[in-house]
Amino acid sequence: MSNRIAVFGTGYLGATHAACMAELGHEVVGVDVDISKLAKLESGEVPFYEPGLEEVLKRNIANGRLRFSSSYHEAAEFADVHFVGVGTPQKRGEYAADLTYVNAVVDTLAPLLTRPALIVGKSTVPVGTAQKLANRVREIAPAGNEVELVWNPEFLREGYAVQDTLHPDRLVLGVDRQSEGWAEQIIREVYAQLLNEEIPLLVTDLATAELVKTAANAFLATKISFINAMSEVCEAAGADVSLLADAIGHDARIGRRFLNAGIGFGGGCLPKDIRAFMARAGELGADQALTFLREVDAINMRRRTRMVELTREALGGSLLGASVAVLGAAFKPDSDDVRDSPALNIAGQIQLQGANVTVYDPKAMENSKALFPTLNYATEAQEACRGADIILVLTEWKEFRQLDPRSIDGIVRKRMIIDGRNCLDANLWRQSGWTFRGLGRN
Ligand code: UGA
Repeated sequence: MSNRIAVFGTGYLGATHAACMAELGHEVVGVDVDISKLAKLESGEVPFYEPGLEEVLKRNIANGRLRFSSSYHEAAEFADVHFVGVGTPQKRGEYAADLTYVNAVVDTLAPLLTRPALIVGKSTVPVGTAQKLANRVREIAPAGNEVELVWNPEFLREGYAVQDTLHPDRLVLGVDRQSEGWAEQIIREVYAQLLNEEIPLLVTDLATAELVKTAANAFLATKISFINAMSEVCEAAGADVSLLADAIGHDARIGRRFLNAGIGFGGGCLPKDIRAFMARAGELGADQALTFLREVDAINMRRRTRMVELTREALGGSLLGASVAVLGAAFKPDSDDVRDSPALNIAGQIQLQGANVTVYDPKAMENSKALFPTLNYATEAQEACRGADIILVLTEWKEFRQLDPRSIDGIVRKRMIIDGRNCLDANLWRQSGWTFRGLGRN
């Protein structure tokens, strides 16, 4: 059965969700206030790099199931299910999440809802937000109690957004305690194809659903910082963190995934989500429960400083005047996202301390230039490495993992490389006559 769906926000989450809901057979309108983004999407162009999304977008525009609009009136008129997928960035100068965009969608949409409708929140919000919004919707929507708000957190990873949306590990649905059950029924229709694949749907109250999302990201961040803390100990003890991760990862209770030590986590989600979580716990009087996240954040940020220090050491104690090639600027491979990217942060710090830094990234060049216009940018890896005193691999793109030392032997000034992501074969580089260093590796 096909539903009429509106998706508010056309960023990573919203654009992917809109395209994937159309892929499931629904009729979808994607809504945004950013006209230039809408124009790109309408012409079948994804405004960011996300493997596989463009085909889904183009296919569903062509078959008429997917379109875009800036009109809330049109969306309210057309759709019965309204997904909210706008951003909740960190507030300036504070840890808390900025809810301006979520509030704006609800405040603009609800007064236009004159018949029964379902609002489905997907954005990552501090626990307690959904209940407040649910109450507000009932108050300001002309259809009153016939409009219900539920929360359906999103767990997609950039780089795997389509796969994660169409084949998630689980679906979570938070419903208002006053709900009469029709909201769950509609969600079951919307995700019928996924439920047929036996993807579990966990139905909870609103607060639990909001918390599932923040808890999941807090756990992932903790796992990464745990292995990075081990990396610090390995460096001090002369041990190897990659082998350590492999060995503990064989224990199924621990698991090898998300145990890659390196320069740490960045991006538009994990860093700001753990901070917003701490801020919210403080408001709830449960701050003690999350003080460990402060340590998780601190360990993570320390990896960036450690990478700068390691570079300085390798260069004989000073960065001044050195030529540094940085391979990778995105916060992770298969993404052009540089929001809070450890790679770009490190490149910036090294440049500010007097080195001459040249950056290359397969997809994130444009976004990097906009954020850090003062760095030098090369159009390919070889060009970035030309005349370099040292090479830093800071994002584990396949292209860099497969880099052949012999292809750059003759163009660098010194054969020195630091692997900030533990993604290279140390033996291969050493056998080719390079000085190789890795974070947390002897
Ligand atoms: C993360 C979560 O993984 C998603 O489940 C969630 O939906 C999303 O945030 C969100 O809240 O929207 P994402 O930010 O796309 O997804 O990226 P991840 O794959 O989680 O990687 C985050 C950072 O951790 C990257 O900088 C990555 O390089 C780093 N990382 C990851 C490590 O340093 N080590 C690892 O072992 C794994």
